[in-house]
Amino acid sequence: MGAAHSQAWRTAGRFFDLPWEPDMAVLCGRDAGRARAAAARLGWREAETDWKALLRRDDVALVDVCTPGDTHAEIAVAALDAGKHVLCEKPLANSVEEARVMVAAAERARARGVHAMVGFNYRRVPAVALARRLVEQGRIGEVRHVRGAYLQDWIVDPEFPLVWRLQEERAGSGALGDIGAHVVDLAQFVTGQALTGVSALTETFVRERPLPADAHGLAASGGTGRGPVTVDDAALFVGRLAGGGLASFEATRFATGRKNALRLEVNGSLGSLAFDFEAMNELEFYDGTEDAVTAGFRRILVTEADHPYAGAWWPPGHGLGYEHTFVHEVADLVRDLAAGTGPSPSFADGLQVQLVLDAVARSAAGGSNWEEIGS
Ligand SMILES: NC(=O)c1ccc[n+]([C@@H]2O[C@H](COP(=O)([O-])OP(=O)(O)OC[C@H]3O[C@@H](n4cnc5c(N)ncnc54)[C@H](O)[C@@H]3O)[C@@H](O)[C@H]2O)c1
Repeated sequence: MGAAHSQAWRTAGRFFDLPWEPDMAVLCGRDAGRARAAAARLGWREAETDWKALLRRDDVALVDVCTPGDTHAEIAVAALDAGKHVLCEKPLANSVEEARVMVAAAERARARGVHAMVGFNYRRVPAVALARRLVEQGRIGEVRHVRGAYLQDWIVDPEFPLVWRLQEERAGSGALGDIGAHVVDLAQFVTGQALTGVSALTETFVRERPLPADAHGLAASGGTGRGPVTVDDAALFVGRLAGGGLASFEATRFATGRKNALRLEVNGSLGSLAFDFEAMNELEFYDGTEDAVTAGFRRILVTEADHPYAGAWWPPGHGLGYEHTFVHEVADLVRDLAAGTGPSPSFADGLQVQLVLDAVARSAAGGSNWEEIGS
């Protein structure tokens, strides 16, 4: 994420008219040599190895947290309390308790004009933002069904090492928190409705893996010995939306052949929408009010100047990629900060997703019993 966010900070002001031009002061990593090399490659003026040093610097106005989940709460809370704006990667935290502490810090900071945002970047795919706009405009009517999936296959090989994402103490959970968080956020964002309860199944298909060579659990090359996988490999759950619609979700790293298939289909009383990140420039729309003889799903190529974000880029049909979602995130964040308004999604939105993840985990642990989602 450090590379993706750096690309966004470098690029946002060059394609979007921003009130402030981001100044890339300092990159922080744990290893001095690697941090210096990354800073030089990614466009940062300086490098640090102690994140607390960032909070003492006058040339740092915002801290962008791109570390694994076990450090999000500590870094974000300290940064907000030090008067720095915060962009924090998803999932917001590794637990509901941590997320609540982060929301409290964000509220304290907001009273002093300091703001926090959580990085659910997929909201800013133009096709997803268009889907939300169509729902808001009433084009699909009342939402009856949401079908969400986030399918990857990067750990199908049982010899893939035990990286931090497969360790509960580092990552909080597995496919559930990593990619399930994204699809839950998208479903709630596009429909404008929160999930009110869930029933879930989770599974860990490969329970032991080779230890990684790198003690930090970040490298993908094998070390010696094996260790237990302590997170879910896949999570399936059904849920109910605040408006009464029914939702189903699947988050897995074992969908052989699916690389980054973040999919969402919404069926309403007047029409339907369908999105798949593997074809991220397209949105499918079925308008049920059209003459049945010619009605059908149409493929909207979401690259027109009037589509969300697309007008800042290339001529119609030339297409955007994964990295553009982060550029859009940064552009919106900078505009909100300059206007003094709270950016979206907020830490409170991140907490709400965390409550869903927690309910899913509790349901799966308790034999798929129904779990209400509190606030
Ligand atoms: N929005 C998305 O699409 C998306 C995609 C991937 C990851 N993420 C999130 O981004 C975060 C990072 O994931 P990643 O895939 O980039 O992980 P990664 O393992 O590739 O990188 C993590 C980086 O954090 C650094 N780091 C760890 N502890 C540190 C500390 N105490 N001080 C300074 N640096 C430290 C490491 O050196 C490493 O460079 C996670 O929260 C993850 O869930 C989001």
